[in-house]
Amino acid sequence: MKEIKKLFAYIKEYWYIYPFAIVFMVLLGATQNGLAYIVKFFIEAVEETDDTGLDQLYTVIQLGIFNVLVLSLSKFGQDYTLNYLGYRLIVNLRLDSFRRILYLPMRFFKNMESGDIISRLTNDINKIQNFFKRGIPDMITHSTTLLIALYLMITINFKLVLIILAAIPIMLVFLHYLGKFMKKYVEKTQGKLAKTVSVLQEVIQGMEVVKLFTSEEREYDKFEDRNASFFKIAMKRIKAKTMHIPIIELFGYIALIIVFWIGGKEIIQGKMSVADFMAFFTLAGNASNSIRRLSNLHIFINETSGAAKRIFDMMEERNEILDNNGTIKKDEIKGKVEFKNVYFKYSETDILKDINLTVKKGETIAFVGPSGAGKTTLINLIPRLHDVYSGKLLIDGINIKDFDVHNIRKHISVVGQNNFLFSGSVFSNIKYGKPDATKEEVVEAAKAAYAHDFIENFEEGYDTDIAERGAKISGGQGQRLAIARAILVDPAILLFDEATSSLDSESEKYVQEAIDNLVENRTTFIVAHRLSTILDADRIVVMDEGKIVNIGSHEELLERSPIYKKLYDIQFNA
Ligand SMILES: Nc1ncnc2c1ncn2[C@@H]1O[C@H](COP(=O)(O)OP(=O)(O)OP(=O)(O)O)[C@@H](O)[C@H]1O
Ligand SMILES: [Mg+2]
Repeated sequence: MKEIKKLFAYIKEYWYIYPFAIVFMVLLGATQNGLAYIVKFFIEAVEETDDTGLDQLYTVIQLGIFNVLVLSLSKFGQDYTLNYLGYRLIVNLRLDSFRRILYLPMRFFKNMESGDIISRLTNDINKIQNFFKRGIPDMITHSTTLLIALYLMITINFKLVLIILAAIPIMLVFLHYLGKFMKKYVEKTQGKLAKTVSVLQEVIQGMEVVKLFTSEEREYDKFEDRNASFFKIAMKRIKAKTMHIPIIELFGYIALIIVFWIGGKEIIQGKMSVADFMAFFTLAGNASNSIRRLSNLHIFINETSGAAKRIFDMMEERNEILDNNGTIKKDEIKGKVEFKNVYFKYSETDILKDINLTVKKGETIAFVGPSGAGKTTLINLIPRLHDVYSGKLLIDGINIKDFDVHNIRKHISVVGQNNFLFSGSVFSNIKYGKPDATKEEVVEAAKAAYAHDFIENFEEGYDTDIAERGAKISGGQGQRLAIARAILVDPAILLFDEATSSLDSESEKYVQEAIDNLVENRTTFIVAHRLSTILDADRIVVMDEGKIVNIGSHEELLERSPIYKKLYDIQFNA
């Protein structure tokens, strides 16, 4: 229920539509029950044997037409206004959840399967949409119909109503337990659905690996497994869901039989007219139909709050970095970076230990060391993808936590090993970090990144669509586009994490030249396994097991650092 309340917050601002919806709803409820009176008046009319009967019949027909006109109009009005609110809610929820996701910390995306996230944003939102499209209109129409029907039934025969109502508490107990059961299984079903979607998502992303390892059948089996367990859980839910309709109908029929029994006796004893009985009977039909539909909603609500919970749980994840965001914003920074007794861990074990390092403005500093030494982790601290848990990281002498995180990121560019390119043109990809860049600026950045020539060779040049071209962009070309993208924002601090390691020597040469073009006047961090890439660095840092074990120039390290010497021997004296 808490979740349903939260959902309604998304349409608070459309309060002015509520009164219209309410008027339509009441009209609909009234005209639906109006039919009972048409039946009553009809019987009364045909029971007359003279001309007054004909006159009355004429009035009944007119009333009937009027009733059905108002009914249709109010049905349209109600459905339209309620659907309007429903769709508004969904659209706003989707927008809000997307915004929250954009601002969740990297930790979240590392820990959660992307298929699960997508499933929540699609399958769970669809469930909620269904509720607002069908559930809410049903709930409202049928409650008004039920209330009006009950009221009218009471005016006709109070005793009969009391007898029928006696059945309701017994029914409610049944429904309560079914509902509880359902809620549990909705969360489970949606969870299983998300797991199924995850396989789909991974396979599509990793199709090349699937094909190369001929693991199609294995992936199929995995999918089949998850699909089957989805089915198992879904059927448990369906069992509860389908059980409840027969239960309600059973109660409904028993109540109607009682109406016939008691009402019939009253007619025979002359206590009730046939016309009144028929009106009562019609109203009872409306009421029982409404109860049946309403009983469904109990389940519907539980299902919806289950789905909403999955979305809100995700939306309410904290972003520790944004929660403690600083306020300092600068148009320009110098780019001096200092690590002071920095410790960092992802979970239990320390990944970075007591890092102390000062990098001057404009200096190029390289990092080498065995895989898992913590180089990437250290680099990622600078744009605050993660925060240090002890010690300090300073930029221009200011604690990085005191900066507005979005502001400081604008002064930092990262080129990694796999740089994601978005669908859209080459042009729009290069200017991703600076959307208002002019064509000239983009071309200039592309030239500096040694990308201009190959872009010009594409048939459509800068307008070439990345998604269409997709795989036709080579690793080296993609890398140079990423460098152009990084350089266009004119960052004071540049971070290269294995930017050339996936390239052949020809592309590496280009990318290396591109990098050499950029490092001037910028503080540059380069992580590389290939020592050829870092020989020009001002200083080289050797890392091992999360610690800085040596700092110096190439020549100094050859003498001082056994780790460095070993790397050098493997690469140059093999
Ligand atoms: N998101 C994460 N959650 C938990 N542990 C992680 C995470 N990312 C990396 N690690 C661990 O942190 C350690 C350092 O990883 P890091 O990626 O910084 O190493 P690296 O020096 O860049 O290695 P490589 O040269 O292979 O790129 C490793 O032991 C790794 O398993
Ligand atoms: Mg790394």
